[in-house]
Parts: sequence; C-alpha cells; structure tokens
Amino acid sequence: MTAKIIDGKQVAADMRAEIKTEVAELKKNDIVPGLGVILVGADPASQSYVTAKEKACEEAGIFSDDNRLPADTSETDLLALVEKMNNDPKINGILVQLPLPKHIDESKVLLAISPSKDVDGFHPMNIGKMVAGEKAFLPCTPHGIIKLLQRSGVKLSGAEVVVVGRSNIVGKPVANMLIQKSDTGNATVTVCHTRTKNLAEHVKRAEIIIAAAGRPNTITADMVKDGAAVIDVGVNRIEDSTKKSGFRLVGDVDFDAVKEKASLITPVPGGVGPMTITMLLYNTVESAKIANGLV
Ligand code: GUN
Repeated sequence: MTAKIIDGKQVAADMRAEIKTEVAELKKNDIVPGLGVILVGADPASQSYVTAKEKACEEAGIFSDDNRLPADTSETDLLALVEKMNNDPKINGILVQLPLPKHIDESKVLLAISPSKDVDGFHPMNIGKMVAGEKAFLPCTPHGIIKLLQRSGVKLSGAEVVVVGRSNIVGKPVANMLIQKSDTGNATVTVCHTRTKNLAEHVKRAEIIIAAAGRPNTITADMVKDGAAVIDVGVNRIEDSTKKSGFRLVGDVDFDAVKEKASLITPVPGGVGPMTITMLLYNTVESAKIANGLV
C-alpha cells in the first residue's frame, strides 16, 4: 500500500479561511481579536516561529502586538509585561514563545498568564480542565493533530493509538485528548517513551501512530502495521550541505519507507506544523468571542 499524503498546508489553509471569515463577521460588531506576542532572545528557530505566527494573524485579520525582548530581560520585567497584557482589553490571547532563557523560570511565567488569555493552553488551570474533560483552551499542536485526523476521515472512536513521546506540549496532552469521552476522543491510547521496553511491539499494534519523540528515524517501516495512519510531529534539523541554510528538516518517521505501508501519512515539513499556528488563531478568536459574551 502507498499512503495518501495528508496535506497539512491545505487543511490549515481551509481552516484559516474559515477563521478569516469569522474575524470579518466579528469586525462588523467592532470586535478585533488581538494576540500579544512575546519573544525573549534571538533563537533563530523561535524567531521564525514567531514571525510565522504574526504573519498568520495579519492574514486572518487578527491584531498582533509584537514584543521582541533582549535575551538578558529580567524575569520581573517579563512578568510585568504579561501582567500589562492580562489587563489590556485589546489583547485576547498571550503567547510567550518557549523556550525562555535559562535565568527565567518558565513555569512561573506560564502561571502568570491569565487562564482566560492562555491561547497556548499551557496554564495548569487549562491543563487541569482539559484532563477533566471540561471546556478549556486546548494546546495547539495536539489539537491540530486531532483536527488533521478528523478532516482526513480517520475514525478515532475505538481506534488503537500509539503515541511515541511524553512531552508536556505534545505527547501528554494528545494522549489525554484522545482518551476523552467525546467525539475528539474515545480512542484506546498507549504512550511510549525513552524507557519503553519494546517500542516496536507497541507501535505494531497501532491503527494510528503519533510520533513525537524528537528523534529522526524513531519509527521505521518494520514497526508499522499495514494501513496505519501516521502523524509525524518531529521537527529535526539534519545537516545538508546542498541547502543554502546548511540543514534540512526531517520528522521522527522514516517517511520514504513508511509511506509504502501506511494508508495516510503527514510529511515534514507541511504536515502538523501549519496546524499548530492555525489552532493558535482559532483559540485567539474563541477567546475574543468569550470576552464579548458571544459563546
Ligand atoms: N515553542 C515551541 N512550540 C511552542 C508553542 O506551541 N507555543 C509556544 N509558546 N512556544 C513554543
């Protein structure tokens, strides 16, 4: 079997068009969703993510407040900026790009963001609500993965899912969302990680594989059941002297071999990546609607 490629760029473009239409409707009532963006330091990957997020906001008609702070910004100054945004009615969502420099306590900063503006879904209040199955801002990458699966016609209810990786931003939340008693869940989920004894044995059972280990070639063709749906969340930089940048991006899945066994597979780049930003826009618009009593 040769897999159908899940075109994340297309699914993201479809959703962004829907979001843009919704923003245009809100503007008729003088409601302009706003995202406060904070980047501390000059990490090249973070800079390009933040620029992409702001560009996506602009295209959707969402106002963004760009704050690029030097790497030596103090924790106190960063917390003061977060507090200012918490109290600014023009700001519906606050995005503090991670990772933060070592001298800043990341969990303290995430805790300082008002849960009602936590469009990344990283605040413990939103994480707790998600786990309890209550309405909450859902973290963008896992939510984007579920939207990709749903819009590709993959049935989640009762499906055997194996998640590889247990990070706070992908593995743990996606596993949690998939076990919820709801139409975005009802799956049977196994979470594998670096201490899992026989990774292949688990992955072979999966009808849906979610690879979020952060290591190239974690999922090889011999581990994949015929007809499985494979979601590759990995973004790994591999040296490549033929590229101007000196590197290319690969996922966690041996794409060329696995696509011959899977029924559906996401590429890297162009799979999950565009969905993360889309769900950030989605959460920001939701937050604006909540702030204005529309939902
Ligand atoms: N760093 C890597 N991914 C993310 C994300 O989704 N949100 C934030 N704030 N930082 C990140």
